[in-house]
Amino acid sequence: MIPVLTIDGPSGAGKGTVSRAIAHQLGWHYLDSGSIYRALAIACLAQKIALEDVSAVVEIAQSMTLAFECKEALVVLLDGEDITHQLSMETTGNTASIIAAIPEVRAVLLQKQKDFKQPQGLVADGRDMGTVVFPEAEYKIYLTATAMKRAKRRYKQLIEKGIDANLSEITKEIKNRDKRDTERKVAPLVPASDAFYLDSSDLSIEQVIEKVLNFIQ
Ligand code: C5P
Repeated sequence: MIPVLTIDGPSGAGKGTVSRAIAHQLGWHYLDSGSIYRALAIACLAQKIALEDVSAVVEIAQSMTLAFECKEALVVLLDGEDITHQLSMETTGNTASIIAAIPEVRAVLLQKQKDFKQPQGLVADGRDMGTVVFPEAEYKIYLTATAMKRAKRRYKQLIEKGIDANLSEITKEIKNRDKRDTERKVAPLVPASDAFYLDSSDLSIEQVIEKVLNFIQ
């Protein structure tokens, strides 16, 4: 049996940093499921696809090829092209959240995500990892924080990457994204009934990592 740890929660809760650190410490694979939706968003924006055109979006989801290369940092290739820089842009995240609400898109991307479950184990980060993609996972975490804390963290990350950012805009976008992700009909953002609920608002990343490792052990 391949062990799976799912870490679900809203954007900016620290899932990515925590998941990568845990995967590294345990020597497990890492699935950043948000980057799959983000890559699809980039492909749709590049091809100027209307987001309401479900069959066109689904066609791109079916045909796109994604490769994740672990160099010094994670490098993501979409149809052979390096899209790492565009992945973290706010427009990408917002577009991803719109297309992620399309049930047919989620169905197409389901198997691509399941394929990440390989020995020795997997840390999967997203919104529906513990509820839909890996409901059988042995360890499930729901990682959250207040919208204000999450917006401040996202702002800091973007500034550090040299990307222009505005805190009140980011707070507004985070709240919109929370609303869209929690209220959508298919695979909404909800804690799995068997998930360990962890609020990171007043915790450092190191403290969150320690709590997650304690939970697993
Ligand atoms: O986690 P990240 O911010 O990269 O995800 C971008 C968007 O992709 C989310 O706002 C969400 O709408 C969507 N997503 C999803 N299911 C996942 C991961 C991400 O619907 N498992």
